[in-house]
Amino acid sequence: MTDDLSKQYYERSRRVTPGGVHSPVRAFKNVDSHPKFIAKGSESLIEDVDGKSYVDYCMSWGPLILGHADPDVMEAIRKTTADGWTFGAADVFSLELAELITSRIPWVDQVRFVNSGTEAVMSALRVARAATGKNKILKFDGCYHGHVDSMLVAAGSGLVEMATPDSAGISEETARQTIVAPLDDLSAVEEVFSTHANDIAAVIIEPVPANNGLLLQRDGYLKDLVALAKRHDVLVIFDEVITGFRVAFGGVAELAGIEPDLVTYGKVVGGGFPVGAFGGRKDLMGLVAPEGPVYQAGTLSANPVAMSAGLTTLKKLLRENPYHKLAAATQKMGERLKSLSSKELSLDLTVQSFGSIFWAGLGEVESPDGAIRTPNQIPQMQKNLYSRFYPELLSRGYYLAPSGYEVGFMSTKHTEQQNEGLVDAFVASLKNVLGE
Ligand SMILES: Cc1ncc(COP(=O)(O)O)c(C=O)c1O
Repeated sequence: MTDDLSKQYYERSRRVTPGGVHSPVRAFKNVDSHPKFIAKGSESLIEDVDGKSYVDYCMSWGPLILGHADPDVMEAIRKTTADGWTFGAADVFSLELAELITSRIPWVDQVRFVNSGTEAVMSALRVARAATGKNKILKFDGCYHGHVDSMLVAAGSGLVEMATPDSAGISEETARQTIVAPLDDLSAVEEVFSTHANDIAAVIIEPVPANNGLLLQRDGYLKDLVALAKRHDVLVIFDEVITGFRVAFGGVAELAGIEPDLVTYGKVVGGGFPVGAFGGRKDLMGLVAPEGPVYQAGTLSANPVAMSAGLTTLKKLLRENPYHKLAAATQKMGERLKSLSSKELSLDLTVQSFGSIFWAGLGEVESPDGAIRTPNQIPQMQKNLYSRFYPELLSRGYYLAPSGYEVGFMSTKHTEQQNEGLVDAFVASLKNVLGE
């Protein structure tokens, strides 16, 4: 089957939009190709404009834990939209969503809704600075926190050096407000704190880093990190934009038994609509305008359609509690991929999963226990091999994220047969590319 229409749309789109897309990874540059234009989705399937369907494991980069076009969410947004879709005023859906979150997540006394994960992070950092009177933030190499200026930075040359800009258009001055530490190395964090704790407002981490492959940290890592931060009077922000409501209702914090000072959400919380949220202890959230001096606002924040989609999604997740089932299905798929690939391929595969999130490292791993915990342990050949493998996988009808550094997401609509099909297609695609 050809993809003529997608190609035509892409050519048109490139004339009017940078790179033809409205978010960079959608351009398929990491797989040396052009994007498929997607026309529709239902449950675990999507269909492109040329009429080819795929089993989708990208799921809009995570929000769609209930699959595409979930009927309950559809009904909710139909009803809500019929009464008008934005008032720029207080409304009951955002009240109920905030009540639902704060009643179920003990470390979130108050929550504020915004329009994206990026906004949530930006605002949480502002609150942390205001609360502590300190300016610097510690982040980890390999974690992504949206395109906030101070978070789009790379590690400096030395361990406790200030960061440098990782995008054009970010000033050195802004980058220097951030310190970047390596993952899987608490002694480095200790060193940063012992030199800079008086200047550091907060440490921010994806509690399960899922933006550079899936970098699973050792047992106890988070607890030790939080204890270190507390000892040095540094606030802890868990960025649960991916993991919140996905791996458990209360995210990784719930599973790890940790109460972060502030938390950021996105993706699942909006049921597939543009919603982010930040929340935490009352004494911190009370600093936010209009109650406190930290300014934060949004014309379309908490608009009723997005709020009713989020509310319906979270209520359904509470009702159905799919988390164990999803994690078991994802683990089973990962184990099957490991065992089939080890039989059929000469290539080493490192399959890592957490809850319904999964990722495979392609090639030999240089780490003492074979696990991939830091970006520099990702196999050298990942980018190149994934870009050759990806069209093969697409041609077999499976859609993963178009980058070897992005994770896959399972939804409640994926079937065992589809999961087995993905494994078969994954191995067959690699086999073809490797000429085995
Ligand atoms: C952990 C994390 N934080 C923040 C963001 C930014 O969210 P958004 O893309 O909604 O701005 C993302 C996006 O993928 C993310 O994965």
